[in-house]
Amino acid sequence: MKITFIANKAVSSGCAVIAVKKSLKTGGGASDYVAAMGRNFKKVAKAAGFNGEKGKSFSVYAPEGVGVSRLLVCGIGDGKEFDAEMFGAKAAKAVMMDETTVTLHLGGMEVSPDAAARAAVGMRLAAYRFDQYRTKLPASKKPVLKTIKIACDEPAKARASYTKYHGPVCDGTVLARDLVNEPPNVIYPKAYAARIKKLEKLGLKVQILGEKRMKTLGMNTLLCVGQGSARESQMVIMTWSGGKKGDKPACIVGKGVTFDTGGISLKPGANMWDMKGDMGGSAAVVGAMAGLAARNAKANVVGIVGLVENMPDGNAVLPGDIITSMSGQTVEVQNTDAEGRLVLADCLHYASTKIKPKAMINLATLTGAILVALGTERAGVFSNNDKLAGQIAAASETTSEKTWRLPIGPEYDRLLDSPNADMKNIGGRLAGSITAAQFLQRFVGKGIPWAHIDVAGTAMKPSNRHDPRETTFGTGFGARLLNRWIADNFEG
Ligand code: BES
Ligand code: MN
Ligand code: ZN
Repeated sequence: MKITFIANKAVSSGCAVIAVKKSLKTGGGASDYVAAMGRNFKKVAKAAGFNGEKGKSFSVYAPEGVGVSRLLVCGIGDGKEFDAEMFGAKAAKAVMMDETTVTLHLGGMEVSPDAAARAAVGMRLAAYRFDQYRTKLPASKKPVLKTIKIACDEPAKARASYTKYHGPVCDGTVLARDLVNEPPNVIYPKAYAARIKKLEKLGLKVQILGEKRMKTLGMNTLLCVGQGSARESQMVIMTWSGGKKGDKPACIVGKGVTFDTGGISLKPGANMWDMKGDMGGSAAVVGAMAGLAARNAKANVVGIVGLVENMPDGNAVLPGDIITSMSGQTVEVQNTDAEGRLVLADCLHYASTKIKPKAMINLATLTGAILVALGTERAGVFSNNDKLAGQIAAASETTSEKTWRLPIGPEYDRLLDSPNADMKNIGGRLAGSITAAQFLQRFVGKGIPWAHIDVAGTAMKPSNRHDPRETTFGTGFGARLLNRWIADNFEG
């Protein structure tokens, strides 16, 4: 996809999408098309029941003499709550199957250069597909959109905003989506690690730990999850050193269960296929790291992902097994399906002791209970630090990857007590997402600001959400949020 930012004038090819305010107020290039239509514009708008209201639109063939073939007229109301990504996404959805070239006219509408860049992101996200395995898909079912032009008031600034930030960050989201969408016979721990290794071309340092190395380090809670699998477990450490030398890094950690059968505590068969997405947290971390590197972020950031496949097998971990974690704390595995927290326990301890970050966020498709609590609209945030929780809330608002904070505390922590070990890996029927967070917190180093984001409801697209930016199972949720968090808080 080719994306350019151009001056606010009418163009002479493809299809034009024009933003129109209430009472049919237009600006810039859009006004030229409207002028060319003369009195017909008002007539057609009226016939379509359109007066510039936000979210409404209609499409007309352009009259003779106007360079473009077709006009898609989109209302933005009074423009006050203009959502650039959503605008771009809806526009792409409307035209991408028929038009190869589209110009989005946002000039004269008080749309900032940043918003103009985000409109391009919305178009890219809406045009995203994952159809490389569909050998019989007819061409008519594939988007033909190739060239996007954004006509806006300050094209140079919008272009800079896109190339320096929104473009590379969007590449990260696309990477995260690809990773989640890939089937589990393609993305298993070693293959996944090999893909991450390729990101070294962006300037990231990528270190891969295999089972032997992890055994030496005592990472037994991570290893026990993969011990029933024929595929070797991996931990991958991505280092981005774009900040000042010696500056403590921020750390982002992801759950990468490439398939979660539940293990011996086997999941029911219906819809089990979607557990290929149980590496969504790690995909967001990988996508975020790729974005940071590609935009040359002025910050030091370490990304860590624990990659395992959770399988039932003669060698699998058993309910009742007691495992010693890297931290030395012992865990009674009462349910092998509560495996994500076992993987993250060693990742978080490794990060706390080896990286010693100034702040740490982990993302994980950790509990079905978060879907019960928040549905599929928001991810759950759990944190030991109000300032960090506030930073996440702010980043979430500006990226539209929505979150909501839930409580943690000693009264919940007690639910993990076990008579046989330092803790058990499940907390019982109540407050399932909170007890999972409590479990993770036990492996976070003292004094480190930390947050856990449970993305079980948001990393995989639910059938009841109709956001035009989400076109496939993998949403890439978190990659943009994490980039925003780093940009707002660690890049001078
Ligand atoms: N990967 C699942 C959580 C999940 C559920 C993600 C639905 C996405 C959609 C996790 O490993 C799991 O199985 N959690 C259990 C925990 C329970 C055994 C305490 C759950 O949520 O049922
Ligand atoms: Mn599980
Ligand atoms: Zn899982």
